[in-house]
Amino acid sequence: MTPVLLLFLGALVSSAQVDLTGYWAFRVKDGGVNFFQLQQTGDNVTSVPSAGRGGGRGGTLAGTLRDGKLHLVTVFDTPAPAPAAAAGQTSAQPPARRETVYEGVVENANRIPVTMQATGRDPLKGTYERVTREEAFPARIPLPELRDVPDNGMARTPPMGWNSWNKFQDVFDDATVRQMADAMASSGMSKAGYTYIVVDEGWTSGRDANGNIVGNGKFPNMKALADYVHSKGLKIGIYSSPGPQSCSGKMGGGYQGSYGHEEQDARTFAEWGYDYLKYDWCSAGGVYGSTREEEQGAYQKMGEALLKTGRPMVYSLCQYGSADVWKWGAKTGGNLWRTTFDIGDRWESMERIGFAQIDIAGYAQPGHWNDPDMLEVGNGGMTADEYRTHMSLWCLLSAPLMAGNDLRTMTDETKSILMNPDVIAIDQDRDPKPVERLSQQGRSEVLVRPLSGSAFAVGLFNRGDQPAEISFRLDALKFNTGLYGFRRLQVQDLWRHEPVQVSGDTYTATVPKHGVVLLRVSIASGRGGF
Ligand code: GLA
Repeated sequence: MTPVLLLFLGALVSSAQVDLTGYWAFRVKDGGVNFFQLQQTGDNVTSVPSAGRGGGRGGTLAGTLRDGKLHLVTVFDTPAPAPAAAAGQTSAQPPARRETVYEGVVENANRIPVTMQATGRDPLKGTYERVTREEAFPARIPLPELRDVPDNGMARTPPMGWNSWNKFQDVFDDATVRQMADAMASSGMSKAGYTYIVVDEGWTSGRDANGNIVGNGKFPNMKALADYVHSKGLKIGIYSSPGPQSCSGKMGGGYQGSYGHEEQDARTFAEWGYDYLKYDWCSAGGVYGSTREEEQGAYQKMGEALLKTGRPMVYSLCQYGSADVWKWGAKTGGNLWRTTFDIGDRWESMERIGFAQIDIAGYAQPGHWNDPDMLEVGNGGMTADEYRTHMSLWCLLSAPLMAGNDLRTMTDETKSILMNPDVIAIDQDRDPKPVERLSQQGRSEVLVRPLSGSAFAVGLFNRGDQPAEISFRLDALKFNTGLYGFRRLQVQDLWRHEPVQVSGDTYTATVPKHGVVLLRVSIASGRGGF
């Protein structure tokens, strides 16, 4: 079309002002999609609050359509807080305000190319496309009756691997994932026990004519990707949502979810050779109620679908710990369930989440684990002491160990934290017992966990801002072999990699700010005393 003709058409459009009232999708190529309803009165355009329906984490849009030029602004809070408090978490930080501006020129009544500019982000080009009400806000499909899904026999110890989200959000591609698999194999991570490479939000663009979920331009062949990861001796995970869409990354909005296609998607993931599914609530909150029954039903539906494929797949529930998921996650066939909102690469976030998990530690058992979210170790937002606290806590909690950093560029320090075999051994203990709080004094806490082989892991944690002396009584460790006093205790400092001499009744260590001293205490073989 010549520029003159375009100008002429543009003038026509502006003189006969289109009415944008109706349902719209904002789509970004190889990115996400955001659905909303617009209402136009004269030049003024606003979005109709969707009362929690639909996908994405959109706010309310308001602006104008003048001379065919659209200008809309949405102001919303981030991150989107979910309603239920998880695992005794204190309430979230006040969210930062941010704004998104959409500018576009109307092409026709059903299509507007638009540039989106969100505070602090690169501009994104996409299109507004008119959609049906049903496409934007699908009706609720009845959920199955609640029943217990049989155990799939997977994840007898907490799953270990890598997940793309913490480092990349949805800005990554097939090549990134392959490189991460290479690095997992070459860096020693796989030898240390890390097995699953999990592709989080950002891989799909939608469905083909037969309703099959398909990868987007950045993930052109999900089966080939799985084959590649398998060729490295690793396993691979994929990501979807019980809702129509996933949550929302940096690329315009949410991605395709499994809503209404649960069995079909489970079959696809199995055919492609996936070994793990992370299933993230996200927009499911728009079609189902936020009750335990509805959440359990939605997760059960996929749990049954996965089982039906006959392919063993680890099933990872992600609904941010709402409705006490630790009490029913296993019933849906879940092997792990998030117990908290998203972690951030900050001391305050990690500390708040980590120390809030102790009361529910007893719900973890082989095949079914509490998941306080993925690791931030190596992402740069915390000190080495803080990352050692992070790793120590997660291992004492028997938490899944999903690294969330760039495995291609790990420093020796990061490697020493993620790959400490003695610390990982606590996490992977075949006979997991819950960690307990032995004592708490001010900002100092001593956590203890019985280990198999008549041993204890003891973590002396300093949550304070100054170095602290932290002590515990050795006789607080209840060895079932009788009084330890008649025997010799063997104590190993698991971060210093050296034995510790103990004498007397009490052990005291100086622990750096936000740091930890992590010990393994066992009874030395042979006779002796001290
Ligand atoms: C939620 C999850 C995260 C990640 C993102 C993707 O916030 O909790 O772990 O999967 O969605 O949008």
